[in-house]
Amino acid sequence: MEKTFHITTFGCQMNEHDSEIMAGMLLERGYRQVSERRQAKVAIINTCSVRENADKRFFGTLGQLKRRKMAEPDFTVCVCGCMMQQQHIIDTIKTKYPWVDVIFGTHNISHFPELLEHVIQEKTKQIEILEDGRTDDGELPSRRMYQCKALVNIMYGCNNFCTYCIVPYTRGREHSRSPEHIREEVEKLVKDGVREVMLLGQNVNSYRGVSEDGSTWSFARLILFLAEIDGLERIRFMTSHPKDLSDELIDVFRSCDKLCKNIHLPVQSGSTEIMQRMNRHYTRESYMDTVRRLRKAVPDITMSTDIIVGFPGETEEQFQDTLSLVEEVRYDSAFTFLYSVRTGTPAASYGEQIPEEVKHERFNRLVDLVNRISAEKNAKYKGRVERVLVEGPSKRNSKTLCGRTDGFKLVNFEGSREMIGTFVNVEITEGKTFSLEGRVVEE
Ligand code: SAH
Ligand code: SF4
Ligand code: F3S
Repeated sequence: MEKTFHITTFGCQMNEHDSEIMAGMLLERGYRQVSERRQAKVAIINTCSVRENADKRFFGTLGQLKRRKMAEPDFTVCVCGCMMQQQHIIDTIKTKYPWVDVIFGTHNISHFPELLEHVIQEKTKQIEILEDGRTDDGELPSRRMYQCKALVNIMYGCNNFCTYCIVPYTRGREHSRSPEHIREEVEKLVKDGVREVMLLGQNVNSYRGVSEDGSTWSFARLILFLAEIDGLERIRFMTSHPKDLSDELIDVFRSCDKLCKNIHLPVQSGSTEIMQRMNRHYTRESYMDTVRRLRKAVPDITMSTDIIVGFPGETEEQFQDTLSLVEEVRYDSAFTFLYSVRTGTPAASYGEQIPEEVKHERFNRLVDLVNRISAEKNAKYKGRVERVLVEGPSKRNSKTLCGRTDGFKLVNFEGSREMIGTFVNVEITEGKTFSLEGRVVEE
């Protein structure tokens, strides 16, 4: 059989990175990755279950694959990711899509190649879902999406149980990797041309890695340890929970040049009452205090957030609190979501679910505000010179290049292919709502 595969990835950076690992493992076994699913003999779908939309898109994709599978029995369909950690999803696949060949979860990615080989050689279906116990990433290969930057897990799982969120059920309990393992991985990446790493965890602030000498390290200490690596120029992270952002981390923002001056600090709502019903463990006042502490230490730090609209019981007044908080913080950007009921989470059984049309109407008002502020903030970049790590051709126009500033702003500009993977100075000529335009200038 022709050994070609294609991966479709839904969801967050954790899933993106899991897909990179799966690709790395298959490439090591002689498979070839193709850019279109129709050219692949093995189709892999890495799923997300954070909102209902993601579920729907997955089942839509399976629907599309059915005809091909019926016509071409040796076409192999593999499904994995967060949705597979939910029993009701597995049951639906078994009854409605019994032709799916391999089903596996988020804890056993390392077993995927064996499961696949089994299916191909013995023509039997494979289902393997583990509760916990993921193999350390350091032992697995990975095929990076970008040559110059990489995603690095520093911890797995989540213990926070925000009442709307499915992630603690799909990714299991929190577990931090050891600082030495992480450093080894980053050193290898840097040798391979990586200049920037994004450290991943559902809440990096609760990182507690146990070092070889038995001591327990904080996230701030881990950053300083990684910053010692020669050749590594930028460190970012995602996501930090506002409830426990330490002064120690704020100090590192100030003292460590390699730590990018940007933070994603999901607030979810502007109302203390809703924050508490979401089990977020902070108040509007304590959140605003964290924002102030960050800005006092690093005045030009850029900030983004996540906001949920229409959490059960949210009143118009409480929604107004969200609008006023956004006005007060003035985020550089914000991801806004309609509350989506997730089976198995506490909020799913809360009374007072908000009608869809109310949610949409609030959502539109919020998006207008968020976009207006983003555009205003980006307009101020005009004339500034920013250091940009060039990622590749820009998404919309392959004739231009794109890259990110230290503050994580996306910049489009004209340049030559040799610039990809290097740092260039770009003078900003225009600030748009979601990106900046610029031109390359000499040092
Ligand atoms: N660990 C990260 C969030 C990961 S999920 C953190 O705590 O910041 C990414 C975002 O999806 C969340 O911040 C939240 O805004 C959104 N989200 C999660 N569950 C949701 C739900 N049931 N409905 C709508 N949005 C949701
Ligand atoms: Fe979900 Fe909350 Fe954990 Fe983030 S911190 S993954 S929102 S439970
Ligand atoms: Fe990420 Fe979606 Fe899972 S947001 S952790 S892929 S549920």
